[in-house]
Amino acid sequence: MTATLTDSAFLQACRGEQPEHTPVWFMRQAGRSLPEYLKLREGVAMLDSCFRTDMVVEITMQPVRRYGVDAAIFFSDIVVPLKAIGVDLDIVPGVGPVIADPVSTHAQLDQFRDLEADDVTTITDAVKALVVELGSTPLIGFAGAPFTLASYLVEGGPSKDHRKTKQLMYSDPDLWHALLTRISVIAGQFLRLQVEAGASAIQLFDSWAGNLSLADYEKYVRPHSAAVLESVADLDVPRIHFGVGTGELLHSMGQAGADVVGVDWRVPLDEAVRRVGPGKAVQGNLDPTLLFAPTELVHARAAEIIDAGRSAEGHVFNLGHGVLPATDPDSLARLVDFVHGYDISL
Ligand code: CP3
Repeated sequence: MTATLTDSAFLQACRGEQPEHTPVWFMRQAGRSLPEYLKLREGVAMLDSCFRTDMVVEITMQPVRRYGVDAAIFFSDIVVPLKAIGVDLDIVPGVGPVIADPVSTHAQLDQFRDLEADDVTTITDAVKALVVELGSTPLIGFAGAPFTLASYLVEGGPSKDHRKTKQLMYSDPDLWHALLTRISVIAGQFLRLQVEAGASAIQLFDSWAGNLSLADYEKYVRPHSAAVLESVADLDVPRIHFGVGTGELLHSMGQAGADVVGVDWRVPLDEAVRRVGPGKAVQGNLDPTLLFAPTELVHARAAEIIDAGRSAEGHVFNLGHGVLPATDPDSLARLVDFVHGYDISL
């Protein structure tokens, strides 16, 4: 039986329906754990690859071909729309995004102009080619959420404690809200362009929001994430919202306007379902380091997660964060087969 895109297991689960099998994909399924990715990327800088139609298409397809996952995630990075409007930044291997001129003044906000379709034609061309090649496999578009993007823009690069980001948030709320308002507009525009080019779902990554207390999240961050999610509400695609270490924020992140709440591995999935509350699907949540454990343990944990996910109105199996670069691709292939073969009909 060939499923159509609309009734693919992934989109069914996102809508809170009960597919025949639990759908599975992995955050960072494309990337350094795959030898075919490393080969293709040889001599090409990360950001350059993100603006090359042929490379975006090929890298996005690699894990779909290898694993038969239920969704593709478009190969790019959260800083790509900022690069596209001319922000001076790079992705440094082994480090992550690095910003040449970290934001600390209102005058610097002028650089955050609107993202136009013309800025990202090579990317939207890739999305268009991908949806043809993927057929009934959904393509997930994505963007970085305002807090996570702001953390790179203010710190100048990755940070453990996000001290400068929080310092700005607490001491200059006007600048903080002005910055997050600008970035939320750009993130929303990037998501819209991806969906208009054919993406069937979007994921808003607020990877580092788990560093905030619930009160600060709701005061300084959630309104901006909500603005991004609301800006694409009319497009009628499932909106997934994910962050790391967000156990205390799960309900609130759902209330930001998500249809699916992504969960990391620290909270048991049935507890996460309770925290998220009714009317939303969940995605997650196997610890990515479990893929270095014996297969029987991986599969036992996966079974627990699938069973726990049955209390949700829709469950998409995933890791609790991205695939680690040292992961053996064969362990992911076995996990996909296990999830697909696990009987959820009873
Ligand atoms: O397969 C996929 O998930 C799609 C590709 C994807 C990338 N980045 C490719 C990438 C996605 C969805 C992202 C999102 C992203 N980028 C996030 C949110 C998701 C998360 O992991 O929490 C964040 C916080 C970033 C910022 C970023 N970019 C980091 C932290 C890094 C890793 C630094 C390193 O080298 O360890 C990057 C670089 C990056 N983005 C790589 C890839 C494949 C590695 C670059 C390389 O291959 O040289």
